[in-house]
Amino acid sequence: MSTGDNPYQDDHGNHDASVTRRGGESTVDTTRTSGPVTDARGGPFLIGDNMTGGYGKGPDILHGCTISVDKGEIAVIVGPNGAGKSTAMKAVFGMLDVRQGAVRLDGKDITALTPQDRVVAGMGFVPQTSNIFTSMTVEENLEMGAFIRTDDYRPTMEQVYDLFPILRDKRRQPAGELSGGQRQQVAVGRALMTQPKVLMLDEPTAGVSPIVMDELFDRIIEVARTGISILMVEQNARQALEIADKGYVLVQGANAYSGTGKDLLADPEVRKSFLGG
Ligand SMILES: Nc1ncnc2c1ncn2[C@@H]1O[C@H](COP(=O)(O)OP(=O)(O)O)[C@@H](O)[C@H]1O
Ligand SMILES: [Mg+2]
Repeated sequence: MSTGDNPYQDDHGNHDASVTRRGGESTVDTTRTSGPVTDARGGPFLIGDNMTGGYGKGPDILHGCTISVDKGEIAVIVGPNGAGKSTAMKAVFGMLDVRQGAVRLDGKDITALTPQDRVVAGMGFVPQTSNIFTSMTVEENLEMGAFIRTDDYRPTMEQVYDLFPILRDKRRQPAGELSGGQRQQVAVGRALMTQPKVLMLDEPTAGVSPIVMDELFDRIIEVARTGISILMVEQNARQALEIADKGYVLVQGANAYSGTGKDLLADPEVRKSFLGG
C-alpha cells in the first residue's frame, strides 16, 4: 500500500528520541505538587485532575493525584510497586469511582463517562494484565479492538500491520502462541483499531527483553509522532523517562515529583530513590 496516507509510517529511520521533546529546556520542577506540569494554553489535552478515589467502598488509593498529557506528547508515570500507577490509569479511563477531582479530555469534563463512552470520545487503553484474547487469532484480536467502528476498519488494520509487521505474518495464529513482546504489540494494535486520540499503556514492556523494549519504545514514539498522545506507566523507569516529554513519580497515590523526562533523570532525589542511583 502507499505510505502517503499512513499515519503510522512517518519518519521511518529517524528514531531520535529527542525530537519528542519539543520546547527543550524548561525549568526544573521537582517540587511536591499535585498541579499539572503543562502550560495553561487552555489546559492539557487529557488530564486526571486532583483525583482522589479507591475501589468500591474501600479506602482511597489516590490522594489528589494529577496526571496529564498534551497532543502528540509522551507522558510517563513511574513509581514503586503498589504506588497506585495502575489505579491512576483506571481512574482516568473511568474504571474507578473518582470521589474528588475530575477527568477532562480536550477541555470537556468526562468524569461521568463510562469506559466505553471514553473509547468513543477518543481514548484507547491497554491494561497491565489480560490485555489480549489469547485463544483468538491476532487478526481476531484486532477486529475485537474495532468494536465501536461502523466504518471500514481494514485501512487501520493495515496501518497496525505496517507498524508491527510481525503481526501481519502471524495474523492467523492464536495470540496466546506469540512471544511476550509480540503479545504486547497485539495489545497496542488492538487499542489503535479505534483510532484513538490518546493511547494509555500500562507497562507495555513488562517481561520483555531490553532489545524488545527498545523496539516497542521506538514504535510508541512513532505513534506519538502521528499526533496521538501517549500516557504510559513504566517499570523501566530510566529508559521510559528518556523518551518522555513529561514524567510523574507517584508515591502512595500522590504526585511525589513531576517534570520533563530530562529533569527527572537529572534530579538527584529521583535518581537515588527511584532510578537506582
Ligand atoms: N481491584 C482492586 N481492588 C482493591 N484494591 C486494589 C485493586 N487493585 C489495586 N488495589 C490496591 O491499590 C493499591 C495500588 O495498586 P496499583 O494501582 O495496582 O499499584 P501500581 O500499579 O503502582 O503497582 C495497592 O494497595 C493495591 O493493593
Ligand atoms: Mg500497576
